[in-house]
Amino acid sequence: MDPGIDDAWALVVASGVATVQGVSTVAGNVPLSNTFGNAQRILEVLDRAKIPIYPGASNPLLGPLITAKAFHGEFGLGQWRGREVDIPPDQLRVWTHWAALCADLKTTHLIATGPLTNLATALLAHPQLANAWASVTVMCGALPGSQIDKAQEFNVYVDPHAADIVFHWTQHLQLIGINVAHKAVIPLSDLKRLESYSRVGTMLSQMLGYYSQRSRGEGGNPTAFPIDDVVAVAAVLQPDLFSWEELPLAVVREGPLRGTVVLSPVDLKRPPIKVAVNVNASAFRDWLWQSMDAAYGVPGTPTPNEIQS
Ligand code: RIB
Ligand code: CA
Repeated sequence: MDPGIDDAWALVVASGVATVQGVSTVAGNVPLSNTFGNAQRILEVLDRAKIPIYPGASNPLLGPLITAKAFHGEFGLGQWRGREVDIPPDQLRVWTHWAALCADLKTTHLIATGPLTNLATALLAHPQLANAWASVTVMCGALPGSQIDKAQEFNVYVDPHAADIVFHWTQHLQLIGINVAHKAVIPLSDLKRLESYSRVGTMLSQMLGYYSQRSRGEGGNPTAFPIDDVVAVAAVLQPDLFSWEELPLAVVREGPLRGTVVLSPVDLKRPPIKVAVNVNASAFRDWLWQSMDAAYGVPGTPTPNEIQS
């Protein structure tokens, strides 16, 4: 992840209704020193400071880092003060940690909500990781031919080479593209619901008050805003909210179409990727607020699965 405000909400939701075994951060929305320190601060507010955080890459595989400070603020979390950490050069990086865990990841789901530099680096250094996780979900790119409101999605644009490596090697991969994430938007009027979640709600209010004003209208509705990375968490916890197609994918890595996701040439023999085609936006929104109520609202509120059963 590259917290980043929608990454932060994704971590809040995942920590509230699932078991987060670890976090790794990558340079993206803001530099690695900010994404790493921000992840620390978010887990502290969630009373989950024991969850290990591993730093990853400071830059994309090739070329300079492009940040998204215009959307996430100078330090990455809008009006909520995160943290900036000077990471010691010898600090264990996430790909070394993943390689050590490799045989024990079969029941773990990896969710990537930033540029895919960490995962690509891991796959190149430790190819056995290609089939290690129960599933890998990436918020990245878009269903080929579907990109109506964005020529390129940020995560794949920042590191197109990493995304292409991940699409080439990873087994059990599913992709949430901007075409679907921008359908699962949240009305600005929903933001008042954050007031019922005490200090977690205060943190999210200061982040989302900033982010919603800069991203509103991205899904086509000027009174709503996207939370792309939270949709990736829903794809793992509530896959039935989505419809899927299986396609081998590639990435345009250079030139004016850099970062565009296309169908992979057949001769590359790439594994099919489960690509989200559509989402039940109202059911996603219900799941999100039921999850927040269960995890951070009035004690005893049933979780979405308890409500469904
Ligand atoms: O394009 C949306 C993605 O880019 C999200 O992950 C957001 O956090 C930014 O990283
Ligand atoms: Ca992100």
